Amino acid sequence: MARPLAIFAVGLLTGLYLPVLAATGTQAISATCSQIASSISSASNVYYPGSTNYQDDIEHFSSSSTQQATCSVEPGTAQDVATILTILGSTNTTFAVKGGGHTANPTFSSTTGVQIAMIRFNNITYNADASTVDVGTGLIWDDVYEALAPYGVNVVGGRVSGIGVAGFTLGGGYSFLTNQYGLTIDTVNGFELVTPTGAILDVTESSHPDLMYALKGGYNNFGIVTRITLQTYSQGQVWGGLITYPGSSIPNVSSAIGNFTANVNDPKAAILASYNSILDQVIGSLTIFYDGPSPPAGIFDEFLAISSLTQNISSRTFLDLFSVNPSNMTAGNRGVFNSLMVLDYTEDLCNAILNQTQYWGGQFISQAAVLVSYDIEPFLPTLFSHGSTATSAWPPSRAQPYLPMNIYYAWESSINDQVFYSAAQESVATIKAAAVQMGQHVEGAFVYGNYAISGTPIADIFGDGLPELEAIRANVDPQNVMALTGGWRIPW
Ligand SMILES: Cc1cc2nc3c(=O)[nH]c(=O)nc-3n(C[C@H](O)[C@H](O)[C@H](O)COP(=O)(O)OP(=O)(O)OC[C@H]3O[C@@H](n4cnc5c(N)ncnc54)[C@H](O)[C@@H]3O)c2cc1C
Ligand SMILES: *[C@@H]1O[C@H](CO)[C@@H](O)[C@H](O)[C@H]1NC(C)=O
Ligand SMILES: *[C@@H]1O[C@H](CO)[C@@H](O)[C@H](O)[C@H]1NC(C)=O
Ligand SMILES: *[C@@H]1O[C@H](CO)[C@@H](O)[C@H](O)[C@H]1NC(C)=O
Ligand SMILES: *[C@@H]1O[C@H](CO)[C@@H](O)[C@H](O)[C@H]1NC(C)=O
Ligand SMILES: *[C@@H]1O[C@H](CO)[C@@H](O)[C@H](O)[C@H]1NC(C)=O
Ligand SMILES: *[C@@H]1O[C@H](CO)[C@@H](O)[C@H](O)[C@H]1NC(C)=O
Ligand SMILES: *[C@@H]1O[C@H](CO)[C@@H](O)[C@H](O)[C@H]1NC(C)=O
Repeated sequence: MARPLAIFAVGLLTGLYLPVLAATGTQAISATCSQIASSISSASNVYYPGSTNYQDDIEHFSSSSTQQATCSVEPGTAQDVATILTILGSTNTTFAVKGGGHTANPTFSSTTGVQIAMIRFNNITYNADASTVDVGTGLIWDDVYEALAPYGVNVVGGRVSGIGVAGFTLGGGYSFLTNQYGLTIDTVNGFELVTPTGAILDVTESSHPDLMYALKGGYNNFGIVTRITLQTYSQGQVWGGLITYPGSSIPNVSSAIGNFTANVNDPKAAILASYNSILDQVIGSLTIFYDGPSPPAGIFDEFLAISSLTQNISSRTFLDLFSVNPSNMTAGNRGVFNSLMVLDYTEDLCNAILNQTQYWGGQFISQAAVLVSYDIEPFLPTLFSHGSTATSAWPPSRAQPYLPMNIYYAWESSINDQVFYSAAQESVATIKAAAVQMGQHVEGAFVYGNYAISGTPIADIFGDGLPELEAIRANVDPQNVMALTGGWRIPW
C-alpha cells in the first residue's frame, strides 16, 4: 500500500526543538504523579505503593515482568488517558501501559516510572445489527466470551484463561477459531486510539487507513488503545477438551500430530499441544477443539486412542472448553517466552521438540524450574488468507504459512533469570536448525512478537513493513512520547 513519505519529514520537523524537562529521578517522577492526580477527572485515580490498587496495577502473570512503579494510574476515560499521555510527554517521564499483564518480557508493560493500568476500560457492547462488539482494553478474553455467550456469538480470541484482550490483539492473536476466520487482527473493525499528542481518534479502515494498518500488529507504538471493535461470529456448542499424557505416550502423540497436520483440513478442527517437563518428569497436554457439538468421525481418534493420564472431553459450551486448561498454575513465577516459526509439524519435528523438553527439563533440576513447556501450534496452511499484508502490520508477509512454536519456562528465583533466558535462546536455535535440516526453509522466517524474547531485533517481527511503520509513527508521535515506554519499539 502506498503511503506518502512526506509525513516522515513533517514528523521530524514538528518534533524538533521542543523544550522538554527530564523526569528521571524518583522525585521528579513523584511530581509527575501529583501532576497527573490533580489533572484527571473523578473517573480516574492515582495510587501509591502500599495500596491494593497499586499492587493489582503493577502485577503481571510472570513476576519477572513486574516492576516497582513510582505510582500507578487507573484512567477511566479516554480524555483522561489523553491528559496522562500529554503530562508524561511534557515531563519526559518513563511509563508503561498494561492490559492483561501477560507479556513475559520485563518493561513491555511494567516500569519504575508511571504504571498505567487499563483495568477500568471494561465495557463490552454488542451490536447485533453490525455483528460487532466493542471491548475495552482492560478486559481479559474470559469476560468477552462470557458476555457474548447469551447472544450465541463469539470472537476470535485467546485459547487459555486470563489473557488480556489488548496486547493479544495488538500483536496478532492465534485462536481456536483462526483456521476459520484468521488471526484476531484480521477480525478487527476499528480501534479507539489516544494518540501521543492527546487526540482521541476513531480509527477505521476508511477514516485512518495508515493507523488501522499500523495497530494491527504494531503494539504500543502509536498511542494507547482504549477500545477495540471486533467482528462477531455465531457460536454454538463445541466439542473437545483436555487430554494429558505420560512421557511414554508422547512419541505416539508426535506421530498423531504428524498425521493430523497431514490429513485433516477441516477449519473447524484445532489442536494445541504442550510437551512439558515438571521436576524432570515429561508430561504431555493436548487441547482438542471442534467448532460443533461433535466432530466428523475419525479426525481425533488417534489422540483419543493413545494411553493417557486424564481425558476431559465432551460436547460443551465454548466457555467451558476454554476453562478446561489450568493455565494459571504457574502464575506468579518468573517466566520467559521464546519462539520460532516452522512450516510443518511433522512427527520428526515434534520428536525433536520432545528431545528439547527432556533435555532442558534435565538441565534445570538444580535451578528449581517450575515448568519447562514447548507448545506445538498447528494451523491450516490457509491461516493467513483471511487478511492481507496491505492491511496489517503483522505478519509482514503472508506468502508462507508459517506456524508458531513457543517455549515457556517458569522458575522461582531471580538468581536464575539469565540461565533460563539463555536456554530459551539456545533451544530455539536448536529446534530451528533441526527444522532446517529436515528441509523446512524457515531460516528467514519472521517471528511473532507476543511469543518473542526481549532483545529480538524489531526487523525480525515487522520485516519489510518497518519503513512504512516508522513513517506512520513519526507522523502520529512527533515528540517520540512512546519511546518513554518499553515494548517492540519502532524507531523513527
Ligand atoms: C498463559 C498464556 C497463554 C497465551 N496464549 C496465547 C494464545 O493462545 N494465542 C496468542 O496469540 N497469544 C497467547 N499468549 C501471548 C499473549 O498474546 C501475550 O502475552 C500478550 O502480550 C497478552 O496481552 P496482555 O494484554 O495480557 O499483555 P500486557 O503485558 O498487558 O501487554 C503486552 C504489550 O501490549 C501493550 N499494550 C497493552 N495494552 C495496551 C493498550 N491499551 N494500548 C497500547 N498498548 C497496549 C503493552 O504496553 C505491552 O507492550 C499467551 C500468553 C500466556 C502467558
Ligand atoms: C528524556 O528522558 C530520557 C531518559 O528516560 C533521556 O535519555 C532523554 O535525554 C530525555 N529527553 C529530554 C529532552 O530531556
Ligand atoms: C462504559 O459505558 C458507560 C455507559 O455507556 C459509559 O458511561 C462509560 O464512560 C464507559 N466507560 C469506559 C471506560 O469506556
Ligand atoms: C499415523 O499414521 C501412520 C500411517 O497410517 C500409522 O501407522 C500410525 O499408527 C499413526 N499414528 C498414530 C499415533 O496413530
Ligand atoms: C504407541 O503406538 C504403538 C504402535 O501403534 C502401540 O503399539 C503402542 O501401544 C502405543 N503406545 C501408547 C502408549 O499408546
Ligand atoms: C472437566 O473440565 C471442566 C471445566 O471445563 C470441569 O468443570 C470439570 O470438573 C472437569 N472434569 C473432570 C473430570 O476433571
Ligand atoms: C487460578 O485461577 C483460579 C480460578 O480463577 C483461581 O481460583 C486460582 O486462585 C488461580 N491460581 C493462581 C495461582 O493464580
Ligand atoms: C537432543 O538435544 C540435545 C541438546 O540440545 C542435543 O545435543 C541432541 O543432539 C538432541 N538429540 C536429538 C536426537 O535430536
